[in-house]
Amino acid sequence: MLRKILKWITGGIGVLVALILIFYFLMYMVVSNKRDKTYNVEVRMFDIPSDSASIAEGAHIYATKGCADCHGEDLSGKTFLEDGMVGTIRAANLTFGKGGRPADYTDRDWILALRHGIKTDGKPLVIMPSYEYCKLADHDLANLIAYCKSVPAVDAEPALIKLGPLGTVLSGLDKLPLIPAEQIDHKAQYPQKIERSVSVEYGKYLTLSCTGCHKPNLKGGDNIVPGGTPVRDITASGNIGKWTLDQFIKVLRTGATPDGRQLKNEDMPWQMTKNYTDEELQALYLYLKTL
Ligand code: HEC
Ligand code: HEC
Repeated sequence: MLRKILKWITGGIGVLVALILIFYFLMYMVVSNKRDKTYNVEVRMFDIPSDSASIAEGAHIYATKGCADCHGEDLSGKTFLEDGMVGTIRAANLTFGKGGRPADYTDRDWILALRHGIKTDGKPLVIMPSYEYCKLADHDLANLIAYCKSVPAVDAEPALIKLGPLGTVLSGLDKLPLIPAEQIDHKAQYPQKIERSVSVEYGKYLTLSCTGCHKPNLKGGDNIVPGGTPVRDITASGNIGKWTLDQFIKVLRTGATPDGRQLKNEDMPWQMTKNYTDEELQALYLYLKTL
C-alpha cells in the first residue's frame, strides 16, 4: 500500500515537472518570437538642431525624463538591473564611443528608437520606455536628440539583455512591459510644440512622466513591480488637495512630505523631479489640482 502511494507521488511529481518544463519552453518561445519580430514603420522626420540653446534644453529633458537612471549621467549606459531570477539588463551606450552609436547612426535612427521603440535593423528595443517618450512633442524630441548627439564619446560595453527565468515567464504572460513597440500606436500624430508656461495644458503634458507609475488617471494603486510600495493618489482627492504649492515643490525636490515622511528615491524618483524648473512644478501642481 505504502509503495503504491509512493509510486503515485513520484509519478505525480514527474508529471508536474514535465508540465512546468513545457510551460517554460512555451514562454521562452513566445518571448523569442516577440523579440525577433521585424517592424516596418513610417518614420515622420523633423529637423534636429545643433545650436547651444537647443542642446541645453535637450540636456534638461534628459535630466527630467529619467534617462540617466538607465543610460547614466555620461550617457555611456548602466547595468540597471542585475537579478538572477528577473534578468540582467544594461542600457545602450548612447555616445559615439566604442560599444555605442555606430558612426552611421542617423537622425532617423534616433527618432525610430524614441518614437517607435525600434532598432536600426527593425527589431524592437527591449525595456527602453519608448511608449512614454513617443508622446514628447517634436520640438522636445529634437532638442533631446541634439543633446545626445553632442555629448563626448565614451567607450563602454554595448547593451545587454539577458532575461532570467522569472523575467521570461512574466514577459511571456505580458506582466512586464518588455517590448515598448507593442504598446505604441505607430501611426499616431504628436504635437510639434507644447508652449512652456505655467498652464494646465503644460502641466498635463509633463504628467507623461508620472502616469507610468501613478496610472493613467493619476489616482495611484498597485506598484508595477509586484510587491513594490503602493503608488499614491496625486490628484486633488489625495494629499495634493491639501498641500500648498510650496509644500508640493518641497516633496518633488527633496522627497520630504509635510506630514513628516521621507519618500525613497527608489519608490518615488524625486532625484529626477528635483531637476524640474519652478515653472514646470507650478504647471504640474496647477494641473493635478484640477483632477
Ligand atoms: C528603464 C531604463 C531606460 C530608460 C529610463 C531609458 N532607456 Fe534608452 N534604452 C534602455 C535599454 C535597455 C536599451 C537597449 C535596448 C535593446 O538593445 O534592446 C535602450 C536603448 C536606447 C536607444 C537605442 C539604441 C539603439 O540600439 O538604437 C536610445 C536612442 C535610447 N535608449 C535613448 C534613451 C533616452 C534619450 C532616454 C530618456 C528620454 C532613455 N533612453 C531612457 C533603457 C532605458
Ligand atoms: C517609478 C514610479 C514613479 C514615477 C515615475 C513617479 N512616481 Fe510619484 N510616487 C511613486 C510612489 C511609489 C509613491 C509613493 C511613495 C511612498 O508612499 O512612500 C509616489 C509618491 C508621490 C507623491 C507623494 C504623494 C503623497 O501623498 O505622499 C507625489 C506628490 C508624487 N509621487 C508625484 C509624482 C509626479 C508629479 C510624478 C511625475 C513627474 C511622479 N510622481 C512620478 C512612484 C512614482
